[in-house]
Amino acid sequence: MLPKLSIRGLEKAFEVNEGFGRTRTVRAIDRVDLEIPDGEFVCVIGPSGCGKSTLLMILAGLYPRTAGEIALDGKPLAGPGLNRGVVFQDFALFPWLNVRSNILYGVRQKGVPAGKHEAIARHYIEMMSLQGFERTYPYRLSGGMKQRVAIARALALDPELLLMDEPFGALDAQTRSALQRALVDVWEKTRKTVMFVTHDVREATYLADRVIVMSARPGRITAEVPIGLPRPRDILSPGFVEIERRLAGLIETQRPAPQEPAGAPGARDGNPGQGMASHQ
Ligand SMILES: Nc1ncnc2c1ncn2[C@@H]1O[C@H](COP(=O)(O)OP(=O)(O)O)[C@@H](O)[C@H]1O
Ligand SMILES: [Mg+2]
Repeated sequence: MLPKLSIRGLEKAFEVNEGFGRTRTVRAIDRVDLEIPDGEFVCVIGPSGCGKSTLLMILAGLYPRTAGEIALDGKPLAGPGLNRGVVFQDFALFPWLNVRSNILYGVRQKGVPAGKHEAIARHYIEMMSLQGFERTYPYRLSGGMKQRVAIARALALDPELLLMDEPFGALDAQTRSALQRALVDVWEKTRKTVMFVTHDVREATYLADRVIVMSARPGRITAEVPIGLPRPRDILSPGFVEIERRLAGLIETQRPAPQEPAGAPGARDGNPGQGMASHQ
């Protein structure tokens, strides 16, 4: 069957202006191949600066790529589009719109007939437990509530792909767990294909069907770990702790040596660890 998302030979280099007429090339992503079947929840983990956000921005169509092919439902992906919902860490809500209008923003852009807006708004407000906040403006909401709105807004597009970049990274631990539970719940209801970036191995173990591990610069996929645990997951169960520890070990081996120049030989061969499916 056709994968929902297919990425082949993806590369991204940034030309960084260093001043005095000098530029430096930063290879952020190097030869990434990845296929995601419809409905899968994939988490991408890796050390800071390994290219996770860059990968997501490319998939969102917000960064051009240097090389490679990306297909969504078999169709080449070019530029941003309303077939992808994006949730960032920094609560990118429209401050001048209330909760309901934030949620309906993309729906309006998409040209969904006005007669359907009320039902859509109500559906996603309920799904993200935002009842009573329809007319509230973002500045009056807590961080957790803002992210609930951001998720509702992304889902209201009925996207083919949900892209999330450390969406809970700025939340306190308790709010974060509540949002993680809510997201699993919503994913089980909607069965959207999700790519969720995090540097938190516990979060990845809790959420994902499959975890993709990226190496430090240039970012490559060095391992993938299927999480076979039933949901909702118990973070204290031995199986959970075991996978969490394995993932932490995989990230440890991916940290760059101090001052290592981009493209140095050592940056390429990540250790996939025992029992892991290697992604060369
Ligand atoms: N707009 C940009 N211009 C130049 N370099 C960038 C840009 N965005 C990211 N980078 C560089 O690309 C690498 C990957 O960054 P990023 O994707 O943000 O990593 P992560 O999200 O995994 O922390 C880093 O070295 C970063 O400095
Ligand atoms: Mg990032």
